[in-house]
Amino acid sequence: MFEVKAKDGLGRIGTLKIGKRSVETPALMPVINPGKLTIKPSEMKKEFDTRIIITNSYIINSSEKLKGEALRRGVHSLLDFDGIIVTDSGSFQLMQYQDVEIPNSEIVRFQNDIGVDVATFLDIPTLPDVPYGKAKAELMTTLERAEEARGLREGYLNGTIQGSTHLRLRRMSARRMSDIGFEVHPIGAVVPLLMQYRFRDVAEIVLSVKKELSPAKPVHLFGAGHPMMLSLYVLLGCDLFDSAAYVLYARDNRYMTVNGTKKLEELAYLPCNCPVCRNYTPQELMALKEEERVRLLSMHNLHVTYEEIKNIKEALHEGALWDFVEMRVRAHPKLYFAYKALRRHGDFIGLSDPLVKRTTEFYTGPETRQRPVFHSAAKRAEERLGDVPKVRHPIFGKIAPELLHSYPFNVELDKEPKVNASEWDLVVRIADYQFGKGVGRRLFEGTSISYSKNDRIRTLLLGDKVVATLRARDGLFILADEGQRRLHSILPYPKYRVKVDNEVAEYVVSHGDVFAKFVKDVDKDLYSGEEVLVVDENDNLLGSGWLLLSPHEIPYFKRGIAVKTRRGAK
Ligand code: GUN
Ligand code: ZN
Repeated sequence: MFEVKAKDGLGRIGTLKIGKRSVETPALMPVINPGKLTIKPSEMKKEFDTRIIITNSYIINSSEKLKGEALRRGVHSLLDFDGIIVTDSGSFQLMQYQDVEIPNSEIVRFQNDIGVDVATFLDIPTLPDVPYGKAKAELMTTLERAEEARGLREGYLNGTIQGSTHLRLRRMSARRMSDIGFEVHPIGAVVPLLMQYRFRDVAEIVLSVKKELSPAKPVHLFGAGHPMMLSLYVLLGCDLFDSAAYVLYARDNRYMTVNGTKKLEELAYLPCNCPVCRNYTPQELMALKEEERVRLLSMHNLHVTYEEIKNIKEALHEGALWDFVEMRVRAHPKLYFAYKALRRHGDFIGLSDPLVKRTTEFYTGPETRQRPVFHSAAKRAEERLGDVPKVRHPIFGKIAPELLHSYPFNVELDKEPKVNASEWDLVVRIADYQFGKGVGRRLFEGTSISYSKNDRIRTLLLGDKVVATLRARDGLFILADEGQRRLHSILPYPKYRVKVDNEVAEYVVSHGDVFAKFVKDVDKDLYSGEEVLVVDENDNLLGSGWLLLSPHEIPYFKRGIAVKTRRGAK
């Protein structure tokens, strides 16, 4: 089961729960070679709080000793790890050596027998750029195996998406896999593309697949483990990553950084503060015996990768993931080009991207303009404030000056347009932007403005009753009880409504959040992040809150919160 706790772009912070084990996503799964533990899973748990790893059931099965142990003690005991264990099937070996010894059904049963948490069937990783016919034929075999595997396993199963670089086949694969029903969807056979820095092709594949999958399914980008590219693919909705790179690179004396890979022998400094880099110079590492050097370099490589995951999660939590990605893609031109190509997918990403975020958008360069939130907000401002006088804005074109201190229009500029508006116009037009044309005047009828200590507009009052508060952080309104009642009577159903099952009405009134599975209907014109009214099945007002999920996502989720409530209507 998977639930979402925060969103930005197509990215999300989520929880993946399998029985008693759980992990927060986006997550890195270190690849464990069961025959050769360079760093033991128990050490990873201690050093990095590792809660999910991936290993290879094909390798375990191919060794009499490991196979016997795994069957006797189970895979968690074999690897001495009590977190989530994902296993691959030998498909990667199939991609590398064109041959594996074991049939699909047998490797799936074996994974059942050794007690893995997430199993993988023997999909065929079709290489990039092969002819359409070949890619299609291989995909058909993969789909047959997918059905067979589903019939053999009740536990979690990876439904790996194939189709080579043919986006049509990737889409078809995602649709068919969705129909069969899997708990996790890896995107396969991207390793050769990543090795060639074809980040744009991988981005196109990820987006094609995301368009067809349920947003409630976690997506694993198979074979992506370099910290440099993680944030871009998190932004595009990938939740799980696996890294064999940490140890493969270490064997070649390659030192990972978020800006790319360095050769150890060429480094004068170790630009990192992990225990390895604090205690050794590059020369000292080079002088070590190979085994020890590989171990220490692997440690460093894992450190930077985990650190990057944490940085990405914090950016996502703050609603600053786009800023973060724009910084990271400058590490390599091919990452930058991949990011620029997202422009074509703005409408799709914009459907999921929140329209209200915790952090002001940062301008980092010309491509900042293509962030979907600017287009969604500009479109909305045009619809709702089309006929008011405008000023010229370098990002938004022409814009009502009253909006310039409200998110996302409050982006920092070299030269700020002049705002010269009456306070009444300001509050009315911000409310019109937020809730609809003509709403502001009626929402605030008869109210007076109260100010904060530093003379900023703070609340709109009706007598001593608060109607709405202008939040200092983003210059947008949150509605108090009276404001909710007014908005509810101004706007007809279903506008700005989230309708919930009568069964949970009382719970919501007593300040409870709204869980996705109890939502009966939602205004489809809303975006994630927006203020909404929560109503029962008869449109009785229960309270208000903000939408955590996007309207189109809510029906897919059986778990987790759809609306964070603020207060009951009382
Ligand atoms: N590891 C890297 N790529 C793949 C893939 O496409 N399928 C499987 N099963 N494992 C992989
Ligand atoms: Zn380090």
